[in-house]
Amino acid sequence: MRVLMIAPPGAGKGTQGALIATHFGIPHIATGDLLRDHVARRTPLGLAVQRHLDKGELVPDEIVLDMVREAFEAAAASGGGYVLDGVPRNMAQARATYQIGLSLGMTADVALHLQADDRELGRRLLARAALEGRSDDTEETIARRLRIYHEVTHPIVAWYGERGILVTVDAMRPAEQVGREILTALEVMRSIVDLVPESARRPIDLTGLGAAFGER
Ligand code: AP5
Repeated sequence: MRVLMIAPPGAGKGTQGALIATHFGIPHIATGDLLRDHVARRTPLGLAVQRHLDKGELVPDEIVLDMVREAFEAAAASGGGYVLDGVPRNMAQARATYQIGLSLGMTADVALHLQADDRELGRRLLARAALEGRSDDTEETIARRLRIYHEVTHPIVAWYGERGILVTVDAMRPAEQVGREILTALEVMRSIVDLVPESARRPIDLTGLGAAFGER
């Protein structure tokens, strides 16, 4: 199974990415974690990207795309599955990630879009700030990260819709419930990806499910 996630900060990419990776036995490739690891180890790359992370701005595309290629090559050697967390963040990254996948025969089967509103996201990130003290979990930086998401990341969701590989999930509910819905959707997708070409697939929107069952 090859999954990439598109979601605003705090929607649960890390939380659900770990769950998907464990469930399917695939690597969890999280560019934010990889970049923070470089910063913590004070590598030349870490020193170069630290100010971008601290300010909540995107690091240059070529840096993350090199990471993606390297991680995909490693994933190819261990079965070819992956869950990609944090890429793509803009249209250029979306196209480049597709090209990298194409060159290795491992383009994404599913683009998982986690949907949540800004107020809830801000609440979660400020709660995490109190516990973990991540340098970009301040009120001002959270606002910038959310603005960048809306301006340059969210528009690429439509591109995956057109490609027929989009699955949208309501991430406002408790993490366990969101996780169950994701795994159910991915299990269904797993059974059709080898049989149905992308061009014949349709986007799947599960965000109305809660209401349909009287949740809200
Ligand atoms: P990254 O690490 O990807 O950060 P982010 O997108 O801001 O997302 P977060 O990690 O804050 O949130 P998340 O969606 O993973 O949610 P999580 O599960 O942690 O990127 C950091 C920086 O790196 C970027 O700003 C940029 O500078 C750089 N970068 C990374 N990739 C890049 C790229 N491709 N191009 C350029 N720059 C890049 O959950 C958050 C909190 O909420 C946790 O405390 C969690 O326990 C809680 N939570 C999760 N789900 C729920 C739930 N359903 N209900 C209640 N609480 C929940």
